[in-house]
Amino acid sequence: MSIQASKFTPDDFSYIIGIDFGTTFSGCSYVYAKDSTNEVDEIKEWPRQGSAIYPKVPTVLLYEKDSKKMIAWGYDAIRQASVPNNNGILVNKFKLFLDTSIHSPTELPNGLTPLEVISDYLSGFHAHILVVLKRSLGKIFDPSKFRYCLTVPAMWSDRAKNIMREAAIKSNIIKRADHPDRLILTSEPEAAAIYCEKKSNQFKLTDGQRFMICDAGGGTVDLVVFEINDTSNNRSLCEVTTGSGSSCGSAFLDQNMRHFIEKRFGRFAKENKLVIDDLVDQFITGTKPGFENDDDEYLTLRAGTKFGDQDPSKFGIMDDTFYITVDELREEIFNPVVNQVIDLIKGQINQSKKNIDAIFLVGGFGQSKYLYNTIKNKFKDQVGIIALPSRGEMAVVRGAVMFGKNPRVVTHRIARRTYGLKALLTFDPLLDPENLKVVMPNGYVQSSNRFAVYINKGESVMVDKCVSKTFWTFYPIKISPDLYAYDGDDPPPRHVTDPRIWMVSAFPISMPEYTSLNESTSVKLTVNMYFGLTEIRMEVVIKGKVFILASAFDTHEMKNTSSNISSPDTSCPTTSSQGSVKTTSKEKNTREKLSSPPIPLYRDFPFGIGLNEWSISNAQPPLGGCQNSEENKNKPRNKPKNKRNKKKKETKI
Ligand SMILES: Nc1ncnc2c1ncn2[C@@H]1O[C@H](COP(=O)(O)OP(=O)(O)OP(=O)(O)O)[C@@H](O)[C@H]1O
Ligand SMILES: [Mg+2]
Repeated sequence: MSIQASKFTPDDFSYIIGIDFGTTFSGCSYVYAKDSTNEVDEIKEWPRQGSAIYPKVPTVLLYEKDSKKMIAWGYDAIRQASVPNNNGILVNKFKLFLDTSIHSPTELPNGLTPLEVISDYLSGFHAHILVVLKRSLGKIFDPSKFRYCLTVPAMWSDRAKNIMREAAIKSNIIKRADHPDRLILTSEPEAAAIYCEKKSNQFKLTDGQRFMICDAGGGTVDLVVFEINDTSNNRSLCEVTTGSGSSCGSAFLDQNMRHFIEKRFGRFAKENKLVIDDLVDQFITGTKPGFENDDDEYLTLRAGTKFGDQDPSKFGIMDDTFYITVDELREEIFNPVVNQVIDLIKGQINQSKKNIDAIFLVGGFGQSKYLYNTIKNKFKDQVGIIALPSRGEMAVVRGAVMFGKNPRVVTHRIARRTYGLKALLTFDPLLDPENLKVVMPNGYVQSSNRFAVYINKGESVMVDKCVSKTFWTFYPIKISPDLYAYDGDDPPPRHVTDPRIWMVSAFPISMPEYTSLNESTSVKLTVNMYFGLTEIRMEVVIKGKVFILASAFDTHEMKNTSSNISSPDTSCPTTSSQGSVKTTSKEKNTREKLSSPPIPLYRDFPFGIGLNEWSISNAQPPLGGCQNSEENKNKPRNKPKNKRNKKKKETKI
């Protein structure tokens, strides 16, 4: 369903609320949008927090047994789960379900889907934020004036980001009818970079210097390198590497510890489940944060440990304590995870063509002394500054609101994948299989399923740059300029059916009714894409009507023309003339001649759109500007006077 959205005006929003939805902990900060001091506040109190002092709340839910009904979230979920005879089901680390690189996440209970659990959590979380803000803002509390920045790992797929957007809608953070820009998705390392840049005065980083963010959290470790641009009055950041990341956060230390203990307990592990849970908890709160590779560790064994008639010392138990040597801690628990972080850092250093001047470690795991010391020892000769900015555990959520306030602080980003549309492009008998051959009503012979590339992986894009291509279709056909992606480093495949290519999102659009158009009249449509944002923004302009693909779940139809679109702070109008092309009698004859089987007609490809070789748009939006695609370089700018006489040639993409 298309939804009409009105013009988006950032100034209508007085507060920016940052939400860091983490694997283990989630946080929230907010800022008054019109305040020039940039003072960021954060939510420090969470329901049933007790004596816990961490400024974030556990990302945990408690569900009724055999039901999708959520009982509690956050600290309250943990508290209620520990009540004797409670039979609710505790669900945690569910953010990892959106990481497609983890191949075997344990199933969610009770038939719950990742979208449902994330939405349930965000509902509870957001309701609490509103309570706190209502208390603190009093009379001026007005949730309709809140704009949101939700952080996501840089390495997430477009699909995962779409699920987060959908979860924000399902949990009532924003409404489906809201303009998509009311919710900005921000990458976690980028938010952290903005925070660190603000703190970096003390490190005296200047124009042209580069720094790496290593955001090591509970589930993921995300890295990216930025270059400081300080030539004008506005200090800004330019992403200079393709961010990388992996699921190797601190929770994997906990998992290693659990496996280590279970291995020691052997066949007694099952019946000592509660004892093992308790030992792992002691590791998480006691051993892990302070580990510096210098001491053996002794964890207190709670009563009720059962080893039958076996000698407990066989299981590493001594005087009612479970002991683990420093070598075991380092080699079995820490190094398998820390080494992955080291490899990720090496990858970023290799990717950056220039020297990296600083590495900033943020996130909860980023505060680990062992991680810090290992990184320092490995990289101190290559990188001058290796630092832990203060309040590193809040860097992401604080940076998110700073970004929301001034999105222009980041000027360039690197395309993480090659993106393009499925389209009908000129048929080449040497390269395109015969079964893909399609004859258009105007006689053009084209190949279906071609990959019309918009941007290549690794390309640097200005944040508000729009890449625009003009296509044509035939009235009144339904169109679907579906978006596809390719992650390889080789030249992109020619057809979207190549197994290395996958569909990112379908974008079905019902063509508006035009009484003045006859059937099979060709209709021009312009597909604009913005790749410099955390989410890809795609819009289709058909005869002045603009459709926005806000997420894979949702298409927004704008009320007016492209001049009404404020995203991303600009629009991408097309300057090429609109003229619809009437099918001439000669073309009709050609069509009839060529339409007999076995060559299928365009109608067999109801979602097909043809790339118009003569009217590639060279539109220049007020800021940024449409990227000069290969077509722009190779093709005539203007429509030739006599299209039928124009020699058809392959469009290089
Ligand atoms: N000093 C420390 N050493 C190792 N791990 C730590 C330390 N302090 C906190 N942690 C761990 O860091 C994690 C919390 O960090 P953070 O809040 O950055 O993660 P998150 O946002 O939940 O995860 P992610 O960003 O991966 O989704 C927890 O797993 C916690 O046990
Ligand atoms: Mg985090």
